[in-house]
Amino acid sequence: MSRLLVRRPSPRLAEGELTHLERVPVDPALAQRQWEAYVDVYRSLGWDVIDIEPDDAHADGVFVEDTVVMFGDLALLTRPGADSRRGEIDTTRAALEKAGIGFAAIEAPGTLDGGDVLKVGRTVYVGQTLRTNPEGIRQMDALLAPRGWTVVPVEVTKVLHLKSGVTALPDGTVIGYPPLVDDPSIYPQFLAVPEEHGTAVVVLDEDTVLMSSDAPQSAQLFRDRGLTVIETPISEFEKLEGCVTCLSVRVRD
Ligand code: GLY
Repeated sequence: MSRLLVRRPSPRLAEGELTHLERVPVDPALAQRQWEAYVDVYRSLGWDVIDIEPDDAHADGVFVEDTVVMFGDLALLTRPGADSRRGEIDTTRAALEKAGIGFAAIEAPGTLDGGDVLKVGRTVYVGQTLRTNPEGIRQMDALLAPRGWTVVPVEVTKVLHLKSGVTALPDGTVIGYPPLVDDPSIYPQFLAVPEEHGTAVVVLDEDTVLMSSDAPQSAQLFRDRGLTVIETPISEFEKLEGCVTCLSVRVRD
């Protein structure tokens, strides 16, 4: 069974943190509809959806992946790097406990945002960003190395999170939009995509990815490689430096 952790958007979504983008108007009603359509993609594929308790005081709370990352059956509860987001973990922790998902936690003074974590096989690339500090990475490495994961720190200066710039296809090829990637040469296989919003995919299975509908040329590139591509509109979240990956946490039992 595959489970999906999500949290509905806050009515205050438009007040979310911005680091590299200019603030533009966000339509809360459209955001809600886009979020429901995003969740429905998983539902239609048989995923069990777990709703984390709404937390409307936290404008960025919809980006649940920043609060928890799965490593096999272990969840790592993060300690978000933005002060405005730190309180999001309380409801995420409660959801993990209720769902019976075992977890470890990043402790102060470490900080870690899940958007900085890209798993490719047993390699864990982790962005060194304004949100994720060296102590957070050290704690993550201490937890993961004994479990057979190799943690590779990656300098990130051009985007908010590592996964704002790169994600990976099912075969492990890292994809990115070159103007937003600091150093593509660190990845054993790198594929440049032609659009900013073509960098983020969620791997649904070995043949299928989910991505933004705002990157048609990138979607075609992936189809040409034999993948099935599901596109979904997430414009209101992209305005807040979000993408398809950070809107959910995938628990693959
Ligand atoms: N707006 C998403 C973030 O800055 O964390």
